[in-house]
Amino acid sequence: MATINPHTGKRQLYGRRIGRPLKENQAERLDEGMARFGLTLEDLDASEDLSRLFDHDPQEVWLEIGFGGGEHLAYQAAQNPAVGLIGAEFFANGVSAACGHLLRANLDNARVLHGDGRELLDRLPDNSLTRAFILHPDPWPKKRHHERRIVNTDVLDALARVMRSGAELRLATDHASYKPWMLQKLLDHPAFVWTANSKRDWQERPSDWPQTRYEAKALREGRVPMVIKAKRL
Ligand SMILES: C[S@@+](CC[C@H](N)C(=O)[O-])C[C@H]1O[C@@H](n2cnc3c(N)ncnc32)[C@H](O)[C@@H]1O
Repeated sequence: MATINPHTGKRQLYGRRIGRPLKENQAERLDEGMARFGLTLEDLDASEDLSRLFDHDPQEVWLEIGFGGGEHLAYQAAQNPAVGLIGAEFFANGVSAACGHLLRANLDNARVLHGDGRELLDRLPDNSLTRAFILHPDPWPKKRHHERRIVNTDVLDALARVMRSGAELRLATDHASYKPWMLQKLLDHPAFVWTANSKRDWQERPSDWPQTRYEAKALREGRVPMVIKAKRL
């Protein structure tokens, strides 16, 4: 059984929320980055258009949950300057690293929540996203912990509400038992359709999908990732 957080009423996700203590330069980068790109849950209101969070009035907003060190978030922000990117991550070292990427490249079309991506989802307006990413989520390998996996029906329901019809959902995992789990959760969900036509579509990342740190680690350790592109119906 998943534990319910008494404060939020949500299923608790586990993990290194804080991580190793930050070194002085990491803490400075976090402060500087959050002053420029940071979002809090209070900044979000499901009744207000997301474009107001950005200075460039984006026509599209994309979301990445669990961005780790932020390499993929920064890549997408750099490649898609007209888009507004929102990332959520609760690992402080990761948020600091992401701030470093965003600061170095002046990626002012990105916003960062240091917190729980599921709480953020609840505060997004209906039909407000045209793309969402959950890449190499924590695998929770023990069977009794599978309910803690972030790719679950509740999160897919929340994504279905906030994603526009035709929007793209990208998922990936390199974990052997998460692959069938992830795919099954997606296939079971009436709001999404898996768009793969051939083996290549789930074995190879498209060219606009850079390798993440966890994918690189998986490959070094001999695990083959599965990539999923799905469409919001
Ligand atoms: C295995 S790492 C993968 C990081 C990155 N996506 C990559 O591929 O390199 C999973 C990350 O998801 C974050 N995470 C897990 N649940 C989350 C949640 N509910 N909200 C925000 N971040 C979350 C963890 O802190 C961790 O950094």
